Amino acid sequence: MAQSELIHLVADLSLIHTLGKWRYPGSWNSYAPYGSPDLYLDLARLLEHGRFDGAFFADVAGTPLFNGAPDDTVEWGVAWPRHDPLPMAIAMAGVTKHLGFVTTMSMTYHHPFNVARLFASVDHVTRGRIAYNAVVSGFPQEAQNFGYDTTPDHEWRYRRAEEFLEVLDKLYGSVDPDAMLWDRETGRVADPTKVRRIDHVGEHFKVMGPLPCAPSPQGRPVQIQAGASASGMKLAGRYADLQFAIPYDIPKMAAHRQKLDDAAIAAGRTPRDVGVLWSARFDVVSGPEEARHNRAMLLQSIPEQMGMVFLSQWWGVDGYRLDPQRTVHDTVAEIKELGVGPNWSYIDDAVRNSDDKTTIAEYSQQWLTSDDGWTGTPTEIVDKMEEAHFGSGANGGFMVVPKTGVPGGFARFVHEVVPVLQYRGLMRKEYAGPTMRENLLV
Ligand SMILES: Cc1cc2nc3c(=O)[nH]c(=O)nc-3n(C[C@H](O)[C@H](O)[C@H](O)COP(=O)(O)O)c2cc1C
Repeated sequence: MAQSELIHLVADLSLIHTLGKWRYPGSWNSYAPYGSPDLYLDLARLLEHGRFDGAFFADVAGTPLFNGAPDDTVEWGVAWPRHDPLPMAIAMAGVTKHLGFVTTMSMTYHHPFNVARLFASVDHVTRGRIAYNAVVSGFPQEAQNFGYDTTPDHEWRYRRAEEFLEVLDKLYGSVDPDAMLWDRETGRVADPTKVRRIDHVGEHFKVMGPLPCAPSPQGRPVQIQAGASASGMKLAGRYADLQFAIPYDIPKMAAHRQKLDDAAIAAGRTPRDVGVLWSARFDVVSGPEEARHNRAMLLQSIPEQMGMVFLSQWWGVDGYRLDPQRTVHDTVAEIKELGVGPNWSYIDDAVRNSDDKTTIAEYSQQWLTSDDGWTGTPTEIVDKMEEAHFGSGANGGFMVVPKTGVPGGFARFVHEVVPVLQYRGLMRKEYAGPTMRENLLV
């Protein structure tokens, strides 16, 4: 990953069409609704103008339930609808030259052979600008679309993920970079001594190989991962180029970074091999008055029910009847007793970030609209980025998304924040090369 200490930027486009953001004043105006590529193509051009490394699409291939039914989710568009992100990334690559794309596929439900072949193929089509966000899925409604009654056990998912990434590694290594001949005179297409079977046999997968793809521009797509449990950190330390993480405060970021350093070293890599992109919801404003005004508009565009429905999905407790008037602490105590919540890291966050009087309704609204410190003038935002970046090892950067609507929120970031980052020498002014990997290495 990053060999220098520059700040890298990735734009999070996962939920810009949902969670009330689509109806934030000015958002999506004059664009066809979600599904059409128009807004995304404009965003791709804008982000490239701002020298972003990439655009990110998270993915959960399921419809969140609330109290056991999809009704509220669908009615209020809570992280729904959600299309497979890969086709949109390919369309966006067609109107850009340097911007990279991060798309997601579950390691819990998909097969590594299919993922390796798909991402190698997309690496060709995007001319080396694809990254794979390898996730260990924790949402029960996704499990139910893939033949499971509920989310499989956490450690089982991580064992499968470990083997999944091992197979991916072997498949990408099964065709040497100089294997292709395409010799018109002899008719030979590839050198067979440079293409090998992998004959992998493990607990979860049996794959003969080789990968039936010509070596792609990046050799292997950039690999990204999120997962803060001990098993998640171990996996990222071993296999990830970049990790997504949530920046609570600088001491916690530094502690997280230290754990990742230890995991990388334990896997025989160096800490510089694994960068972190800290997720940040920003709002670029001219001062406190505009910040208050924006927050009020945001609250107005979010229906009351929405926070709770999303929280229930995020926690992975969609069959459990969340009572809006009950306190977070009582609710979590009951969830622990019932053992119905698989996403413990998020549930534990909620306990840490609430007191014994905070109700579920209050917490969910706060959580969805919280001012997590990234609201400010361009200079204030850059000050904070600089402090957080250097306070946490200066190895990676930020994955940013506006709290308000699009494309306006990103336009302000590109036109007002990026120039300050560049002026201070914190961010590059030009791309280093055509592939995503090359750009991340500077
Ligand atoms: C910034 C960020 C992005 C994530 N994107 C996805 C995603 O697209 N799909 C998904 O199923 N999980 C996603 N996750 C969840 C993680 O993959 C992981 O399952 C979760 O953090 C719990 O892992 P842990 O038990 O190791 O802490 C994301 C997490 C973070 C922090």
